[in-house]
Amino acid sequence: MLIEQCQIIELPKITDPRGNLTFIESEGHVPFDIKRIYYLYDVPGGADRGGHAHKTLCQFVIAMSGSFDITLDDGYNKKKFHLNRSYYGLYICPGIWRDLDNFSSGAVCTVLASKHYDESDYLRDYQTFLEYVKGNKK
Ligand code: TYD
Repeated sequence: MLIEQCQIIELPKITDPRGNLTFIESEGHVPFDIKRIYYLYDVPGGADRGGHAHKTLCQFVIAMSGSFDITLDDGYNKKKFHLNRSYYGLYICPGIWRDLDNFSSGAVCTVLASKHYDESDYLRDYQTFLEYVKGNKK
């Protein structure tokens, strides 16, 4: 099942009385070569993000500040994650529909991605997504 490949990964944390430090190395802590970083911030209360899948893109999502929920869906099963620590991230493999909601005030959602932005890699219609994943698997 695709969704079982999507896992929370704990990142290194160097604790220090002056403030903690976490680092991420491409192909080490995340299972892909990082080509792009983007972040969501100033998300108004009650807003939803995501609402799409990717055909080939791998992503790693971190609640850099605050918290939010991510619901993953591989077309067969759904799994919900609550992200609220900057030293944990969620690896999302290709072919997964994702919905992000329940953003806390001041939340920052940082996403590491395996490719540059490419609109043709998106599946933005849920029915098209289902046809895509079911066609790919059977
Ligand atoms: P989208 O990926 O749909 O946002 P989210 O999944 O976070 O809700 O992207 C929203 C808009 O931003 C869309 O018009 C494409 C644009 N965009 C870029 O130009 N570059 C990027 O790297 C990303 C992620 C989005």
